[in-house]
Amino acid sequence: MLPVKPFSVRQTVAKEFTNRLSFDGASRPQEGVCAEKLGFDTTLYRSHPPALLKRFGTDPSMEIRRQTVSPSYPAAFSVSTIKPDPRPRILLESRDGGVKVLAMALDADSDWMINADGDMVLFSYSGCGRFYTPFGELRVDPMDFVYIPRGVPYQFQGAAVMAQLFIGIESSELIQKPDFGPYINADIPYSDQDLQVPIPFSVLTSSDDEWGVWVKRADIWKKAIYQYRPDCLGWRGSVYPFALSVRDIHPLSAHTKHLDPTAYTVFAAASGSVSVQAFLPRYLHSLPYYHMGSHDEFLFLAKPYAARGGIVGAGDATFHPQGFYHGPNPKALEEWQGPQRVDECAVMFESRSPLFPTVLAQELEIPDYRYH
Ligand SMILES: [Fe+2]
Repeated sequence: MLPVKPFSVRQTVAKEFTNRLSFDGASRPQEGVCAEKLGFDTTLYRSHPPALLKRFGTDPSMEIRRQTVSPSYPAAFSVSTIKPDPRPRILLESRDGGVKVLAMALDADSDWMINADGDMVLFSYSGCGRFYTPFGELRVDPMDFVYIPRGVPYQFQGAAVMAQLFIGIESSELIQKPDFGPYINADIPYSDQDLQVPIPFSVLTSSDDEWGVWVKRADIWKKAIYQYRPDCLGWRGSVYPFALSVRDIHPLSAHTKHLDPTAYTVFAAASGSVSVQAFLPRYLHSLPYYHMGSHDEFLFLAKPYAARGGIVGAGDATFHPQGFYHGPNPKALEEWQGPQRVDECAVMFESRSPLFPTVLAQELEIPDYRYH
């Protein structure tokens, strides 16, 4: 199991400012954010109290998402053909709902949402615009990862009228950074200084304003309407949303031996139940060996991928559950020229808990996927 560590403490306000606010809580509302029940990891210095709830709303069409199909089997999905929807959809999920593979396809701004079920790591395939959160805004481009901690409100606004697709994983267990230990450069797989953190902003509000947010808890959506739009004057802590460009990820490489995908881990849960790997441009000794994984593997291709050559392409994904052998497809093996630099961009979500495709995933399934 790969050890993990928390993300570095970041701060967007001067220390003197936070100290002053700490002793002025009555007039400067503060919000504590905690990743687990261990105390507050981050403090937000709000412009307005966030908890002034006015009323609820519901959306019966969004309430029930549990439409899984079993048994599980190796499959491929044309993810980029998914129809737009203002909220993330579930492609695969574990029986207990603790792990889900999500797709968020937008043709307009998303709703404001809170995922109370877990942390999310989203990968932008074609998403280009800004995520807004109470921490501030994040600029996101294609090929960026976006991390949204559990319970942090978020909304995406596209920079252009175009299809915007994010593919992601939701984990009920805290997602952290892999720790490759003291013998490898601290910037592997990336430096925390390259995490793009939100820039706080103030929102002018009047007494007539209100703000609605869809809350997902156990995959049932309920709308909460609060008095104030979320903003903050600054924040400090180790739990925060961020964006990370694949250009700032430095993959390990070996020219005499094939590296196991664990070497390409960029996010992981402490127990090893969930992890995310990025297969990026690098020197590659060989195509993967045949194997039967210890985890279910969902692989999304942002560019053509050597081991899947000729079978599936950019915008598609493959799914290989535990219990089924897989490896490079025969055509890819035939065409492999030996150790070389590959220009790949693929993202893998691994889950120890068995994942099952939903009806939505079945609608996107590429028929007759056999060679893997
Ligand atoms: Fe695999």
